[in-house]
Amino acid sequence: MTSGARIVAFGEHRPPRVVGNDDLPAALGTDDAWIQSRTGIRSRRIAGPDESVVSMSADAAGKALAGAGIDPADVDLVLLATCSMPTQVPGGAAQVASALGARSAGAFDINAACAGFCYGLSAAADAVRAGTARTVVVVGSEKLSDWMDWTDRRSAILFGDGAGAAVVQAASKPSIGPVVWGSDGTLSSLIDIPAGGKLNLDGPAVFRWATTSLGDIARRACTAAGITPADLDLVVPHQANLRIITALARSLGATNAVVADDIVDTGNTSAASIPLALARMTADGRARPGDRALLLGFGAGMTWAGLVIEVP
Ligand SMILES: CC(C)(COP(=O)(O)OP(=O)(O)OC[C@H]1O[C@@H](n2cnc3c(N)ncnc32)[C@H](O)[C@@H]1OP(=O)(O)O)[C@@H](O)C(=O)NCCC(=O)NCCS
Repeated sequence: MTSGARIVAFGEHRPPRVVGNDDLPAALGTDDAWIQSRTGIRSRRIAGPDESVVSMSADAAGKALAGAGIDPADVDLVLLATCSMPTQVPGGAAQVASALGARSAGAFDINAACAGFCYGLSAAADAVRAGTARTVVVVGSEKLSDWMDWTDRRSAILFGDGAGAAVVQAASKPSIGPVVWGSDGTLSSLIDIPAGGKLNLDGPAVFRWATTSLGDIARRACTAAGITPADLDLVVPHQANLRIITALARSLGATNAVVADDIVDTGNTSAASIPLALARMTADGRARPGDRALLLGFGAGMTWAGLVIEVP
């Protein structure tokens, strides 16, 4: 057993195709002013035919490994958080491992929807601490555009595609978690993709759930990490709606924290949203080494997971 685990690097894949609110299909019957005022979204990235959950994952994870100077052959475990694989079986993690050149890695998918990356990060830290893996790649990757009903303005305006990755290794000082997680299967109908169907979303019900439930989960994650919200340098919630993010930040009292706003030009990328935001904030200097960041994922299931990490 090692005493702790830490993130050593992030990587990202943002599809090159930018779709602004005015570029959305006219059949949606929506407009830029409505979308911006209700969600904060100005544009999102939509993957092309040559970009898949697996290829975007491999790109993001390859960049994270290169950034940390780690040989992909040394990766012991690949965890892929996604809910938008085009196939029910197989999952995508093994293909990501192969594409990376992680020849001896274990690999499995995690479907906890928009909370998936936080579940994966916690599982990665546990595997490192338990000694079952020395180097773990955690990816959140989604191609939700495949699963959109492009005639449904209540959902199609929200989502985007992309992938973000983190590499987790052992550390003398614990820098990931502990996690505070939970679920409520009685709310499973709020967000679903039925067999053979497209994504359904009860937006107002999810909005109410998020604005009444997330504050308590966030505070418990801080307590578990031995800090108060005022000690946070960063708040990085799942990028679902800027109004949810703003309400959370206000109610939390994280007065010294920079709050992630990646949704504005990325949309809601489900499991990818938190690592994408972290990768960008690390690259542009808003997240600095040693900063304490609250990550808070929530989504279909319902599932949720919050944990405090130290920025590499
Ligand atoms: C989806 C969401 C933006 C909708 O915003 P809202 O303020 O709740 O809007 P409502 O669904 O109550 O609809 C209000 C009105 O706007 C209309 N409307 C809905 N979407 C619209 C759009 N894209 N453009 C224009 N009008 C729209 C509705 O038809 C309704 O009109 P009506 O009053 O004439 O019936 C919001 O509920 C939300 O973000 N929820 C959280 C979703 C989420 O985070 N999901 C993923 C979690 S992982």
